[in-house]
Amino acid sequence: MKFFIDTANLDQIREAQSLGVLDGVTTNPSLMAKEGITGTNNILKHYVAICNLVDGDVSAEVISTDYEGMVREGESLAELHHQIVVKLPMIKDGIRAAKYFSDKGIRTNVTLVFSAGQALLAAKAGATYVSPFIGRLDDISTDGLNLIEEIKTIYENYGYETQILAASIRHTMHIIDCAKIGADVMTGPLSVIEGLLKHPLTDIGLAKFLADYEKGNK
Ligand code: E4P
Repeated sequence: MKFFIDTANLDQIREAQSLGVLDGVTTNPSLMAKEGITGTNNILKHYVAICNLVDGDVSAEVISTDYEGMVREGESLAELHHQIVVKLPMIKDGIRAAKYFSDKGIRTNVTLVFSAGQALLAAKAGATYVSPFIGRLDDISTDGLNLIEEIKTIYENYGYETQILAASIRHTMHIIDCAKIGADVMTGPLSVIEGLLKHPLTDIGLAKFLADYEKGNK
């Protein structure tokens, strides 16, 4: 399973990268705004800064909602850095743009996916990644994990190569459950990735090992 961090915060990206388990970064306009990154030039520079911090794919989202705009924006984003993946919204023009980019060999991430039908369309358009938002589904009393399972079944039935990028991850059990289902990638905040480290028996066991070492080496 690939681990992406879902943030535009450079310190958190650096921290996750230093763990040695990071495979990429996802961003979105809300995450950019949260870091105070505004204005096209600053946003583009920020994407390059992120690419220079990590080895893997960096999803950069278009703002346009029309086909021509998405193609124009996506092409400039893709030219910024070879690690950039063009992130497109799951709307009619987004699917058309995904097909355009796929034909040109430019990688895409179709985002804001909330149904199996949307995921099927993204795969047919040749998207590199599809991003089902499981946390936001859970937020409205709908089982987000069930969507991951549905997409997994459909993609396996037809051998689609689009990778399932489980997004809107809220807690460690989301990661574990997505790994059990076989999602290709998960993207989540640093706190959730680091949450995987925690177990009280590890802390108790380590404290005992160190105490016993101290006793034996007095
Ligand atoms: C995915 O690429 C999105 O940036 C993200 O996972 C959305 O998560 P949220 O529902 O926590 O905003």
